[in-house]
Amino acid sequence: MFAGIARRYDLLNHLLSGNADKRWRRLVARTLESSLVEGARVLDVACGTGDLSRVLARAGAASVIGLDFCRPMLEIARRKAADDNRAVLFIEGDALRLPFADESFDVVTIAFGLRNLAGVEEGLRELLRILKPGGRAAVLEFSSPVVPGFRALFRFYFTRLLPRIGGWVSGSRGAYSYLPDSVSRFPDQERLAALMREAGFEEVGYRNLTGGIAALHTGTRARRM
Ligand SMILES: C[S@@+](CC[C@H](N)C(=O)[O-])C[C@H]1O[C@@H](n2cnc3c(N)ncnc32)[C@H](O)[C@@H]1O
Repeated sequence: MFAGIARRYDLLNHLLSGNADKRWRRLVARTLESSLVEGARVLDVACGTGDLSRVLARAGAASVIGLDFCRPMLEIARRKAADDNRAVLFIEGDALRLPFADESFDVVTIAFGLRNLAGVEEGLRELLRILKPGGRAAVLEFSSPVVPGFRALFRFYFTRLLPRIGGWVSGSRGAYSYLPDSVSRFPDQERLAALMREAGFEEVGYRNLTGGIAALHTGTRARRM
């Protein structure tokens, strides 16, 4: 599905979100700012066309790896990053079986990726596994709007208009019907925070973005005593 929409993916992200997606990714970098220091190793899981990976690299992390299992997405990510003065390494891999040793990254991020994994809990445990003690995770994902009137309006847009526009521009109606369907099945803010705690993350918190259309969850891996 992602291979089929790769070419129009960025355009549709910006168009369908009114460019809010750019702000949300910049906020991930700002939230993790104190961890994005020169020596930090950063992994962006389900990186897609690499926008968050590149924002993290620009924010100061010297070593950023973007991982995705969809080759056409990665090819676009590599092309876009070719002119950046901060290199990002884009590699093919499965988020549920990350090709890295335990405790090898200072920061791990996943943006609009967790919802697409075959298992959310397994995905969270895998993110925790590769984090060093004291390392930080950030999960950016669609969530549940918190303002009642706005929620109804957004629901109409998300379930009725977005699939039509997305289908028309990308040529894949299925992918843009899958989007609201998958969001409706995905845990809301509180439930996702609970799942992160159950997976073993500490200091779990979240912030609603644009009225809860999306949420940014963060957590850390416990330090050794
Ligand atoms: C909606 S896109 C998000 C891309 C990017 N993170 C962003 O913020 O735009 C979801 C991405 O997750 C990837 N993906 C889904 N399941 C995956 C898995 N098991 N392993 C690696 N990547 C996966 C897809 O290939 C796709 O590129």
